[in-house]
Amino acid sequence: MTRILITSALPYINGIKHLGNLAGSMLPADVYARFQRARGRETLYICATDEHGTPAELGAAALGQDVRAYCDDQHQIQRGLYAGFGISFDHFGRSSSLQNRTLTQRFAQGLWEAGFIEGRVTKQVYSNADKRFLPDRYVVGTCPHCGYNAARGDQCDNCTRQLDPVDLIHPRSSVSGSEDIEIRDSLHLFLKQTAFDGKLRDWITDKKGKWPVLVTSTALKWLDEGLQDRGITRDLEWGVPVNAADWGPNPAGERPDVAGLAGKVFYVWFDAPIEYIAATWEWSAAKPGADPASETEYESWWRGPAASDVSYVEFMGKDNVPFHTVGFPCTLFGSNETKTADGSWRPSSNAPWKLVDTLKGFNWLNYYGGRFSTTHQRGVFIDAALEILPADYWRWWIVANAPESSDAMFTWEQFQAQVNADLADVLGNFVNRILKFTETRFEGVVPAGGEPGPLEDKLHADVAAKLAELNEQMEAIDFRKATQALRQLWVLGNQYLTEAAPWTAIKTDPARAAVAVRTGLNLVALFAKVSEPFIPFAAEKIAGGVGEAYPGQWPTGEGAAVLDILPAGRPVAAPEVLFKKIENDQVAAWLERFGGPEPVEADG
Ligand code: 2FM
Ligand code: ZN
Repeated sequence: MTRILITSALPYINGIKHLGNLAGSMLPADVYARFQRARGRETLYICATDEHGTPAELGAAALGQDVRAYCDDQHQIQRGLYAGFGISFDHFGRSSSLQNRTLTQRFAQGLWEAGFIEGRVTKQVYSNADKRFLPDRYVVGTCPHCGYNAARGDQCDNCTRQLDPVDLIHPRSSVSGSEDIEIRDSLHLFLKQTAFDGKLRDWITDKKGKWPVLVTSTALKWLDEGLQDRGITRDLEWGVPVNAADWGPNPAGERPDVAGLAGKVFYVWFDAPIEYIAATWEWSAAKPGADPASETEYESWWRGPAASDVSYVEFMGKDNVPFHTVGFPCTLFGSNETKTADGSWRPSSNAPWKLVDTLKGFNWLNYYGGRFSTTHQRGVFIDAALEILPADYWRWWIVANAPESSDAMFTWEQFQAQVNADLADVLGNFVNRILKFTETRFEGVVPAGGEPGPLEDKLHADVAAKLAELNEQMEAIDFRKATQALRQLWVLGNQYLTEAAPWTAIKTDPARAAVAVRTGLNLVALFAKVSEPFIPFAAEKIAGGVGEAYPGQWPTGEGAAVLDILPAGRPVAAPEVLFKKIENDQVAAWLERFGGPEPVEADG
């Protein structure tokens, strides 16, 4: 039996995420995790806030907070919003954890001692007024090409040319506005990604046809353009400190320049993916009665023979693909460490860490013609989304329109039309119709009596076929197709009721009416189970209406057995309105509040 390990890209700590962020990471990961749990597979869904780096420092400074206190607060805010959205993490950790510090330092040490890290002196911008080094994008000035006066040190937003901070005319700090800046030499560590070109190429080539084309082509493009060694340290205060004093010699017998590296931290993109592993350790350490120092349990998901039954699935937007197909695998390949019998770590010839088995990458979900934008507050953010509508409306629309093979576009008009049609008219109406009828004509209990006929035989066959399709698409992690199959299942329910027409049969043939109502109620029970991964809040209400446990087990039976769920005599009751239709005046108000079709410059 396979165990399923799931991670979704870690949301940055600063700021509430928008629906575009959710669409390519946590939401699809959650749907998949719920599906696998319902199927009875041992499933572990791990995520965390990505807490290091300049944006966290600046976010804290903007609020006048200490960085750790800022991260504490922001983590709680994000955690609450994801819970409101129904994201069922097994653990939602923090990349600033002790576990991540331990593992990040250990990986770096392994990479150094295996010869895959080297020191290089680089030129960095230092702001005397801010008393800190500035990352390129926090230096602004006049573009030497087009004269735009707010060009960033990494790129000019006006003419889009790539820049170096030293190219800027009148450079200044975007933190304080001060022009008192200078270029200083600074020693940094570089991960020798170039050493892994062949290994990466073989690994990715093997995934062609198995992973989305978007993912393999992005990875191969990076390899074809030529891998670069990557700076993995920064001149910042907030982050995992570089622990060079602990490191032994590299294969050439050299020791790191401890003094030169003093006060530096690892680059956020070095420690963030390691947090997938570290958050799993946080999870195992937090279990009741666990020894927090023990590494046995989390490792059983991540390394060596103990993890050989684990299927590891990652979810992310396309901008994250290079870091997960090149950067993180290099860390895993290169650390080259294994644990020896005495518990110490030693280089070995093959990386014992688990690489991703399935990488599900997504295109963008856009807001009208342009990107959702955090900087410009363009689009719908999770807090506002939950304020105006229940999570299931958003979950359903986003998953049904997942940006799988191309970018997708959110518009209020299309959202309204689809949610009203699928959730209110098809699913909600069906559940309500049959349960209300049971209440008024069958005293609110599942009726006994009567024998299934040809109509039911056909229904069983149709349901079985759609269920098989739904299973297949979910196993293939193809969300658009899976939601189509699910919607068609719901439609079968309505069609059956219309044809079986128990409200007519009851006048002449009560046994026939009983069969139709019992069958309809079993469809309700089935819908609760198979809808749960997508719309868990409604699924819980629906399950409650027919007295079924929530979350239920994924249906496995064949033919009539698929709809043999509810015992005759069980009391049932219509749940409160499942889905209220979205009205035109609501859409008009939301267009006013959130803005409509005017795209602005993208910034993620
Ligand atoms: O792009 C982002 O939002 C990053 N915070 C994703 C990190 S994913 C992982 F590698 F940690
Ligand atoms: Zn320019």
